[in-house]
Amino acid sequence: SAPIVRSRAALAELVAGWRRAGETIGVVPTMGALHEGHLSLVEGAKAGADRVVVTLFVNPRQFNSRDDYEKYPRTEEEDAAKLAPHDVDALYVPGPEDVYPPGFATTVSVSGLTGVLCGAHRPGHFDGVATVCTKLFRQTGADRAWFGEKDFQQLQLVRRLSADLDLGVEVVGCETVREADGLALSSRNVRLGAEARRAAPALHAAMTEAVAALRDGAAAGPVIDTAAQAIRAAGYDEVEYLELRAVEDLRALDRAEVPARLFAAAWIDGVRLIDNLPVT
Ligand code: PAJ
Repeated sequence: SAPIVRSRAALAELVAGWRRAGETIGVVPTMGALHEGHLSLVEGAKAGADRVVVTLFVNPRQFNSRDDYEKYPRTEEEDAAKLAPHDVDALYVPGPEDVYPPGFATTVSVSGLTGVLCGAHRPGHFDGVATVCTKLFRQTGADRAWFGEKDFQQLQLVRRLSADLDLGVEVVGCETVREADGLALSSRNVRLGAEARRAAPALHAAMTEAVAALRDGAAAGPVIDTAAQAIRAAGYDEVEYLELRAVEDLRALDRAEVPARLFAAAWIDGVRLIDNLPVT
């Protein structure tokens, strides 16, 4: 099973050895509570790099509620066991001081892309993501990094970040892995009560119907109103956003005339779930 590396210094030694041997390094950043979505990224990385590092760090800077941070599942032992059959080269579990040493005072902020969708509803979230990804890319010496389309805005942000700061990391996006009933896998799904879990797939179902209408050329406004109503009727407490946006720069669209995706965030049973689907 994968060696667990707990300090920046130990990781640097491993990475230096791989570099000397001319090997490429693939990285899969995670916050743990691993599921099949994460493992699909790991498989992608195995196929696309000589060495694979999975990082596990629940990043305090990207949570905008203390409660969400504290309730975030922490299951390191199970995570290591799930990774064992995948034969990765390291599981990097840094301590807070390895990522944010005393005196740490830098924030990486990607503008434009991050003002909408989750960025508009979670102040500071994407600054936290951009900062930690920059740190993790540098510490792991990543040549390539695998991210899920489940967090599509994050994926686009990391692409922008790597290009803008010359981090030299090629960012690879992977399709969202779902339960049989359509619910996107998420580490937060374990917090759903039984009733909420039964109702939760309504988000994906309503989005799928909306996408079909949008593909037929329907205007976004009424299609989205209908979908939002269906989501609430199914048992969601609130639809935080449901929006049609361009893939390229996440600008809002009235119709799916350019490559577009439908994005949603909604609350059920005190849990915030997100999803997105390609339209064109
Ligand atoms: P986390 O939520 O643990 O997700 C780690 C990676 O797994 C992300 O790239 C995410 O998009 C991907 N992922 C999650 N659910 C998925 C699914 N159902 N199908 C496919 N991929 C999925 O995203 C983060 O952690 C953090 O923000 C991080 C990038 C690690 C920075 O702290």
